[in-house]
Amino acid sequence: MRARAIVIGGTGLVGSQLLDQLQEDTRFEKVVSLVRRKSGREHPKLDEHVIDFRSKDSWSPLIEGSQGDVLFSTLGTTLRLAGSQAAQYEVDYTFQYRIAEQAAAAGVKRYVLVSSSGANWNSSLFYTRMKGELERDVEKLPFSRIRILRPGLLAGERAKRRPLEGVGQVVVSALKFLPGVRQYRPVPAKTVARAMIRAWSEDGADLEIYGPEQVFELGER
Ligand SMILES: NC(=O)c1ccc[n+]([C@@H]2O[C@H](COP(=O)([O-])OP(=O)(O)OC[C@H]3O[C@@H](n4cnc5c(N)ncnc54)[C@H](OP(=O)(O)O)[C@@H]3O)[C@@H](O)[C@H]2O)c1
Repeated sequence: MRARAIVIGGTGLVGSQLLDQLQEDTRFEKVVSLVRRKSGREHPKLDEHVIDFRSKDSWSPLIEGSQGDVLFSTLGTTLRLAGSQAAQYEVDYTFQYRIAEQAAAAGVKRYVLVSSSGANWNSSLFYTRMKGELERDVEKLPFSRIRILRPGLLAGERAKRRPLEGVGQVVVSALKFLPGVRQYRPVPAKTVARAMIRAWSEDGADLEIYGPEQVFELGER
């Protein structure tokens, strides 16, 4: 039986690579992409819905699943774009958690989340704490397989440039040959997307968490 995928974040850097790959992957018969704005993307397998992430009524009827189905979650924003920590938390935590909760309740069995290196619910840093809180809470949902990817800095061409990210990529790229910091080299969004699909198909424990180096390994295998 072929699988159906539900994707949130499909207009983003990782999400758009993920949709490209899912569209070409014959193991998937249908790809449901939930977005806040039309993407302009068209494909026979793609079923895109513009939703209001704040309003459960706008998206819960679109989330259904059975044995082979999977939710891929790669939503996120930055503090600068969101304007405040509360607004960033709403996107990175609340929207992602509520959709995962609904998917598990609706019978979607597998879940793949892009989190971040350093995610830790006990962290004193807002960003890594937020990512850790999401991981902690989705791990309790009744999916049969949960796969969490913790990439380091992402590399890839964005529609809108993010100056600090660009500086980070240059610095981190320059450090990549030093022992101990190699794992922090930027990871191409395409590699993360490939790793997400590989993680979906991997057997193993109910819960697997892939650190930055494992994301590279999985995405380049
Ligand atoms: N940037 C990094 O170096 C880095 C490193 C490690 C982990 N991560 C994490 O990896 C994940 C994917 O990152 P990315 O760079 O691919 O993300 P991205 O390009 O910023 O895309 C994020 C997605 O979230 C959507 N989104 C943002 N704000 C929204 C809102 N208010 N309501 C609804 N949708 C909203 C975007 O929709 P629109 O296209 O409509 O804006 C887009 O589809 C994120 O969780 C990020 O935190 C990032």
